[in-house]
Amino acid sequence: MPMTATRRIAPPKRLIYGPGPSMIEPRAYEAMSQPLTGIRDPYFLNVIAEIQAGLREALGTTNPKTFPIPASGSGAMETAVGNFVRPGAKFLVFANGHFADRVAAMGARQGARMTRCEKTWGEAFSAEEAEDAIARDRPDVVAFVQGETSTGVYQSGRAIAAAAHQAGALVIADCVTTLGAMPVEMDAVGIDVVYSCAQKGLSCPAGLSPVSVSPAAWEWLEKRAEDSITWYFDLRLLAKYFEPPHIYHHTPSPPLFYAMHEGLAAIEEEGLRQRFERHRRAGEQLAAGLTKLGFEPVVKQPQDRLWHLMTVRPPSGVDEAKLRERLVEKYGIEIGGGLGQLAGKILRIGVMGPLANEQSIAFLLEAIAASL
Ligand SMILES: Cc1ncc(COP(=O)(O)O)c(C=O)c1O
Repeated sequence: MPMTATRRIAPPKRLIYGPGPSMIEPRAYEAMSQPLTGIRDPYFLNVIAEIQAGLREALGTTNPKTFPIPASGSGAMETAVGNFVRPGAKFLVFANGHFADRVAAMGARQGARMTRCEKTWGEAFSAEEAEDAIARDRPDVVAFVQGETSTGVYQSGRAIAAAAHQAGALVIADCVTTLGAMPVEMDAVGIDVVYSCAQKGLSCPAGLSPVSVSPAAWEWLEKRAEDSITWYFDLRLLAKYFEPPHIYHHTPSPPLFYAMHEGLAAIEEEGLRQRFERHRRAGEQLAAGLTKLGFEPVVKQPQDRLWHLMTVRPPSGVDEAKLRERLVEKYGIEIGGGLGQLAGKILRIGVMGPLANEQSIAFLLEAIAASL
């Protein structure tokens, strides 16, 4: 489409109740139109330092090596795998969804010796299953997905991390969907490497993704004999920008940093516990409302469900794609469909950030009821 001085983009205003991206925090939108600075401007470096502090708080960690990398969540996933899974290493992935499969695919491309612990999509791993798999495989590195967005399953990772450490393995966790909406508790759970994103629980645009590495895992990385295959996502190089003397690695995008700063400031002002509680209540309201309308939860055990992302099979006779279409046309509401083996079968409905409140969930439920 040709762009001229008189043609300005005018995107439709949607209410995004999907699995991510979520609605942007209004103050994050505003922040993105603020003046750009140079990459070593003291103001910008201070913004970055505040982002790092906010990320540590939201992730539940004191790791000095906590910073955002220039990518969406998949780039952060590739960063974690590319730095901590060496060619030939034994890499165990707890595979119960689409994103765990993606982690495994990345491990295979790194030349790792892959092994998988499988579970039906929609179910979490028990402590016993985690312990057995780790005792059986004796992996060098273990990965799990804390918030499996393709199924709606939450896995804290405590049992996995404990068993992995006993076996001397490093633990990578995908916290793309949990950060900012549910407790990640990186240090308490015992996760060595966390990666996440901006566009879900932080209510920011995609493009910057937090990564955090424990001191022990960083020491391991420092000692890694050969460079990681990836240059752009090489954490040893990336980290040098985030501490004095702030060595140039790539050109950061200030508007994305400003947005992340405001997303984290909103969390700080609300209070982390209060924010989690708001998402928990929102999830309960949504689950109750959808069940009343005849939707069937994919995750049978309520304690295994993500609070802010409900996955459901539609009532019989309801076409999920048509329902999604009607919601967009009539209400400007976007909800998500299934991924991978659940494509065409389920709906994924998120209540994150500004939409995780009683009124917007009541509105969403009314709109769904009227569109069945
Ligand atoms: C659990 C999980 N991991 C990884 C990703 C990949 O993130 P992105 O789409 O930002 O690359 C997603 C995206 O939805 C996700 O939900």
